[in-house]
Amino acid sequence: MTTLVSLWTDIRKRLEAEGVDSPVLDARMLIEKGADVRRLDIVTDPRREMTEAQIEGVEALVARRLAREPISHIIGRKGFWTLEFAVTPDVLTPRPDTELLVEAGLEFLAPDKPARVLDLGVGSGVVLLTVLSERPQAVGVGVDLSEAALTVARANGAALDLNSRIEWRAGDWGAGLEGPFDLILSNPPYIASAEIETLAPEVAKFEPRLALDGGADGLDAYRALMPQIRALLAPGGRFALEVGKGQAQAVWALADAAGLQPLDVRADLAGVDRVVTGRRRELLLGDD
Ligand SMILES: C[S@@+](CC[C@H](N)C(=O)[O-])C[C@H]1O[C@@H](n2cnc3c(N)ncnc32)[C@H](O)[C@@H]1O
Repeated sequence: MTTLVSLWTDIRKRLEAEGVDSPVLDARMLIEKGADVRRLDIVTDPRREMTEAQIEGVEALVARRLAREPISHIIGRKGFWTLEFAVTPDVLTPRPDTELLVEAGLEFLAPDKPARVLDLGVGSGVVLLTVLSERPQAVGVGVDLSEAALTVARANGAALDLNSRIEWRAGDWGAGLEGPFDLILSNPPYIASAEIETLAPEVAKFEPRLALDGGADGLDAYRALMPQIRALLAPGGRFALEVGKGQAQAVWALADAAGLQPLDVRADLAGVDRVVTGRRRELLLGDD
């Protein structure tokens, strides 16, 4: 007889043997989705017998996870901040590290003041949507080169009832945009091209290349972004950029060279420098 708990244990062991990162949690999520049971059922009624149809439903999902498809793609959702976002293979799965970018952005926006926010490379929309959900007076523009990603972002905006404050735009970073913006945020692709194949299969095989590939040294997007940020930022406005491990100094230098004034570097929970913030460097004093 297969019960909820025996299936959970069995799947956990198979995921573990395959080298999956979080086998306990993933096994539980696959059972919840594949057998249409609730978390509470697994806790309160672990010896419930599963039907053949339920087992088949779960096994179909387990096969995908064993092929290292990300759990977020299989479940179709990912939690971020206090919200939930739809995720598809067309967008980067939102990462906990990116909450630091959101935190920096929120610091620069007074809760009760109107503001115009730009997010360059929105993916699922997670950064702009989280910021606007916390700042009811703010409006935003969200840009991505990928139409497919924008479709996901738009759907997430609709689910959170935030689209009336957002213009979703297909484009190449800031090209053709009209400033000024009080806050510019971006989590651009920053993995060096040659490194991508060395990443976990969940990332290398399943995440969109456009969301990962930062060119030979991983810094191509920052080179393109800095002059645009300089041109689009309001006097007194701020920017915050997520960066890859070991890139903060180089990104700081690129900002400086483009006429921006870097302000600080913030480390994530693992101690990795993860966000570079800054403002416009003004020639005249007294505009901030
Ligand atoms: C690392 S993902 C970040 C997605 C999302 N902001 C997040 O933090 O989860 C980078 C995003 O930039 C987009 N992108 C890449 N090149 C771009 C370009 N030239 N112009 C606009 N967006 C671009 C990708 O399609 C992808 O959605």
